[in-house]
Amino acid sequence: MELERLATGVKGFDRLIEGGIPRGFFVAVVGEPGAGKTVFCIHFAWRGVQDRDKVIYITTEESRESIINQAQQFGFDFSKALAEKRMIIIDALMRGRDDKWSIRELEPEELVQKVIDAKKELGYGRTRLVVDSMSAFWIDKPAMARKISYYVKRVLYKWDVTALLVSQYAVTSDLAYGFGLEHVADGIIRFKKLVVRRVLKRFVLVEKMRQTNHDLRAHEITIVPGVGMIVVRPTEKRVEDAHLPRGLMEQMRETREKGRKAYSGEEEWSSK
Ligand SMILES: Nc1ncnc2c1ncn2[C@@H]1O[C@H](COP(=O)(O)OP(=O)(O)O)[C@@H](O)[C@H]1O
Ligand SMILES: [Mg+2]
Repeated sequence: MELERLATGVKGFDRLIEGGIPRGFFVAVVGEPGAGKTVFCIHFAWRGVQDRDKVIYITTEESRESIINQAQQFGFDFSKALAEKRMIIIDALMRGRDDKWSIRELEPEELVQKVIDAKKELGYGRTRLVVDSMSAFWIDKPAMARKISYYVKRVLYKWDVTALLVSQYAVTSDLAYGFGLEHVADGIIRFKKLVVRRVLKRFVLVEKMRQTNHDLRAHEITIVPGVGMIVVRPTEKRVEDAHLPRGLMEQMRETREKGRKAYSGEEEWSSK
């Protein structure tokens, strides 16, 4: 049976995953700050509006206005989608605000409740969910990442949502935080940024997509004013082969290992 897949709206990306993200999947979107995670999510949301899906977008790192403005730069009219009740942006940053679509406490229960409220408001039908980011919910308790991710998936999968769950972390100290989410996810899309000959380059790599013969190569991406994200070309070299300082590589390796141990129960999480 042919799987129903949701287009991401990023030019050149869907062919890496046989046409799109399977309906009902929970996909982790991971990578360092500035790598392109939020831009990717904005495309996914906008494509949802165009495809007449319901769209629920939770923002913890930026305000609702910031997301609307970023989308506007690519020609995506989120304000109109909001006014037409085709989309709800839940703001978890500007917490003092007394509005229905703000989250006051960064607790998983409140997140899930708001998503369900939003879903009821938007009505039945295929729904896209973005949580940018999940990391905000375990910022002071990283060892809970897996449990929280599992809880969110377990409750929300019944609500016909296809979700992008962002994990925001730095390459050095916080690398291990992502593990909890990645273990639970049906797919992992990793964004990387690298300085190659003093120029910032960005890449995307599909590390996992269940039930999909996905492309295994890192692809270079670009973000174009007025247009947004575009997948440019596959890289020949492995992204890791480009020159990162050796100390940094070593630190990344150690942090990764620490995260692995923490989740396999080999080691208690010590304070970072
Ligand atoms: N209008 C634009 N034109 C070109 N590049 C842009 C534009 N808006 C954002 N960008 C690029 O996107 C980057 C932010 O990417 P973002 O998806 O927010 O990263 P993160 O992975 O931290 O969520 C900026 O640093 C900039 O390089
Ligand atoms: Mg972001």
